[in-house]
Amino acid sequence: MAEHIHPIFDQLVQRSEREARLQQRSKVLWLTGLSGSGKSTIARHLERRLFEAGFFAQVLDGDNIRSGINSNLGFSESDRTENIRRIAEVSRLFLYSGVICINSFISPTRAIRDLALQIIGPADFLEIYINAPLDVCEQRDVKGLYAKARQGLIPGFTGIDQAYEAPLAPALEINTAHLSIDEAVEVLYTFLLSQIRI
Ligand code: ADX
Repeated sequence: MAEHIHPIFDQLVQRSEREARLQQRSKVLWLTGLSGSGKSTIARHLERRLFEAGFFAQVLDGDNIRSGINSNLGFSESDRTENIRRIAEVSRLFLYSGVICINSFISPTRAIRDLALQIIGPADFLEIYINAPLDVCEQRDVKGLYAKARQGLIPGFTGIDQAYEAPLAPALEINTAHLSIDEAVEVLYTFLLSQIRI
């Protein structure tokens, strides 16, 4: 009978055990900013930088989320909220498996980012504002979407006819109008090290 009296809790592999195995503390980095601000590029470079340094991290961005798990969602306010809710829940799973999760999503409103914060928990949620002025993002127009939005072909495009609410108190702000990608990644990596080192 003895085997039945152990609570199931004893059998669960704890987050702390997973972190110890991976030799890191897990966190969720939440990169927010306009389309074209450099979020995903910075996220991917940071992921590589962490990997080379022996950390274990995973990027979530439009490429692997909006094409798959969230392929049924668009850009209405309620779809964006559902987009972020699911991403936050997935991030939480990564977090509790010990993996550093680097998220790159416009997440345009304070309410949406607050929802993510509530799901992930304030101790593990690091809001990073990737800041580049709209005119700089529009000038870059990496995907050609700003031109289309200006022509009225993409209604509700963030920064054009939908507001982007900048974070009021991000853990870190990176201005990509003034920093190169490598410099931005270095700033973020240095900031993150103090959070993830065991
Ligand atoms: S979020 O607002 O729900 O967080 P998310 O980061 O997933 O947005 O997706 C943003 C990307 O979707 C943009 O970089 C752009 O390529 C594309 N996109 C398509 N329609 C829109 C739109 N109306 N507003 C902003 N981005 C859009």
